[in-house]
Amino acid sequence: MARIGTDIQIACDYLAQHEVVAVPTETVYGLAGNALDEAAVLRIFEVKNRPSFDPLIVHVADIQAVERYVAHFPEKLNLLAQQFWPGPLTLLLPKKAIVPDLVTSGLDRVAIRVPAHPLMQSLLRKLPFPLAAPSANPFGYISPTTAAHVAAQLGESIPYILDGGPCAVGLESTIIGMEEGQLMLYRLGGLSHEHLVKAAGPIQISLNQSSNPAAPGMLKSHYAPRVPLRLRFVHDIAPPPPPQKAGLITFRKTGPLEGFAKQACLSQNGDLKEAAQNLFAALRDMDAAGLDILYAEPCPDEGLGRAINDRLRRAAAEN
Ligand code: TXA
Ligand code: MG
Repeated sequence: MARIGTDIQIACDYLAQHEVVAVPTETVYGLAGNALDEAAVLRIFEVKNRPSFDPLIVHVADIQAVERYVAHFPEKLNLLAQQFWPGPLTLLLPKKAIVPDLVTSGLDRVAIRVPAHPLMQSLLRKLPFPLAAPSANPFGYISPTTAAHVAAQLGESIPYILDGGPCAVGLESTIIGMEEGQLMLYRLGGLSHEHLVKAAGPIQISLNQSSNPAAPGMLKSHYAPRVPLRLRFVHDIAPPPPPQKAGLITFRKTGPLEGFAKQACLSQNGDLKEAAQNLFAALRDMDAAGLDILYAEPCPDEGLGRAINDRLRRAAAEN
């Protein structure tokens, strides 16, 4: 079983030996390995049971480190990096040969992010290599936002979990790249589209829903609990009759509703930032409650609410 602790040196030692360890970031916990070491990268795919067509994000300590891995840093993306790094923003940049094809699933762009979590920052500064890290969950399941979440799913397969407390953002990073000079948003995440547009001008949203290797990682069904999930407004829900047990996740505080075995709200006052922080933990809690069906109410479709709704829709999608 993985040890859980806050010792950066222990994490460094494992990472230097081709091992993978779980690391905290401000978005979600990552399953990290040396991004330049094919053995470590293979181990990441193996532990996560992740298909090799789904590429990994490379994490570096600061913007200066990017040039070692990237052939060219388009100005529009560079400006975003200067404003939002460290933070929940991932940029797709043309890769140099030093980045193994295994990391990018053979694509010619590499996804790069400078995470803000102080423990992860210290770890990256201590290491002589960047860290490839997908979210630290089995492929397709809910992303972890605490060390205990990681231990529950991957604890048997990894030696160490670096514990940085609960994640402040709670949703994965927003992914941005460029096509023909135009900024493109490929994954809604912890930095809202509105916020990015204010800083950088128009950004086209292009969310893929296929398992097409050219548009990886945005599978229709993802972030999914085992209990079937339905997305509905509260007033449209007719919970099933007993003995079936239904759960309900609401966006804001709602009085107890009849017919639900378990009820949770993402934010008492309907605050989207707080709702994002609580989303994945709420899904996990419900998944552990022995329910037959789970209902969730969509959030307002603005700011972080769009990313929350994206995760809920994928969690509700049939495989
Ligand atoms: O917040 C995050 O981004 C977290 C933390 C740990 O940094 N990481 C994360 O990784 O969410 P993961 O592997 O669960 O999702 C990364 C997604 C992939 O599924 C894929 O859609 C996209 O990033 N991606 C990575 N490399 C890419 C590439 N070269 N081209 C296109 N998409 C890429
Ligand atoms: Mg993931």
